[in-house]
Order: sequence, then structure tokens, then C-alpha cells
Amino acid sequence: MDEVMKVIKERRSIRSFRPDPVPKELLDRIAEAGLYAASGRGKQAPKIIVVTDKELRDCISDENRRIGGWEEGFDPFYGAPAILVVIVPEDIPTGIYDGSLTLGNMMLEARELGLGSIWIHRAKEEFEGRLGQELLRKAGIEGGYTGIGHLAVGYQDCEDPAAPERLPDRVYYL
Ligand SMILES: Cc1cc2nc3c(=O)[nH]c(=O)nc-3n(C[C@H](O)[C@H](O)[C@H](O)COP(=O)(O)O)c2cc1C
Repeated sequence: MDEVMKVIKERRSIRSFRPDPVPKELLDRIAEAGLYAASGRGKQAPKIIVVTDKELRDCISDENRRIGGWEEGFDPFYGAPAILVVIVPEDIPTGIYDGSLTLGNMMLEARELGLGSIWIHRAKEEFEGRLGQELLRKAGIEGGYTGIGHLAVGYQDCEDPAAPERLPDRVYYL
């Protein structure tokens, strides 16, 4: 199997992480993979906010938990020490697609580097509220942005989950 296909097939969403920090060089590589994603009209509009500060990471987790309606104490990021938030300018018509592809590239690179990852939702709601504005301010980003998704990243604390069988009859050749 070629390398790309191997990573695509072996990558799975990880829901248990060790607290050990991820070296910055590895986070840089993951973000770089995101930056190389295709983008509508080649605008390269998505931005990636890499959060490793524990206090801020916990703040995002708590807001995400609140938006998701879970009980206090639940961590929707499953203990991952790093969160890469993908955002796009509000006025980019292909923003959701561009940002999603950015996240897809990053998931594959995380796997390639031996790290676990999982896409965590509810970035849209976060960036409609105070926390999103605070993240933009801290990162020094101006203008209106839509939250696309978070990539929780860390060293996985579980075996690789098995990939469910692919559902049949989803490809049509004409
Ligand atoms: C747009 C999107 C949003 C997701 N949001 C969450 C989430 O908030 N929490 C979670 O545990 N998993 C989330 N996931 C992970 C999916 O549940 C997971 O990709 C799916 O079950 C298939 O598993 P796999 O990634 O191992 O193939 C999300 C995935 C996508 C693509």
C-alpha cells in the first residue's frame, strides 16, 4: 500500500490522550500540512490558532462542553494537551470547505507523526461568542472570523481503534 493510502486508512479519531505536551516542531508540522491544503480560488484564507497553554486549553474545553450541553467535568477534548483551531474569514464563500480541508490535512499529518488526533466540533458557536473574540484578540487577528473546527492533538492513550467497514454502494461510475 502506498504511504498516503496507509495513513488515510490507519488514521482514526482518538478519544483518550496522555497529558504529555507535544513538541512544538511536531505541532508546526501539523499546522504546515494544514497550510498546504487546497483552497477556493487559491486564497489560502484559513488560519490556525495553536493552543497549548493549559489554562486557555481548559477554557476552550469548558466553553465547548457548555455549548455541547454536557455536565461539568466532561472534557470534550478527551485530555488532549494541544488544540489547533481552524478559522476562516466570514466573507470567504468557500470558507467552510477550505477550513475543513485544512483540518483533514492536519489529521493525516498527525497520524504520520505518530500522534493521535480528533476533530472536535462547535468552533462556529465559540467564535460567535466571547471566547472566540478573546482568542482572536490574543492571537492579534483582526476582522470577523468563523470557527470551522478544532483538532485535538496529543499522544494517544489507547490502541488504534479499528476502522469500521466502509458502507457499500457509495461510488458511482458513469
Ligand atoms: C465535522 C466533524 C465533527 C466532529 N466532531 C466531533 C466531536 O465534537 N466530538 C467527537 O468525539 N468526535 C467528533 N468527530 C469525529 C467523528 O465522530 C469521527 O470522525 C467518526 O466517528 C468516524 O471515525 P474516524 O474518524 O475514526 O474514522 C467529528 C468529525 C467530523 C468530521
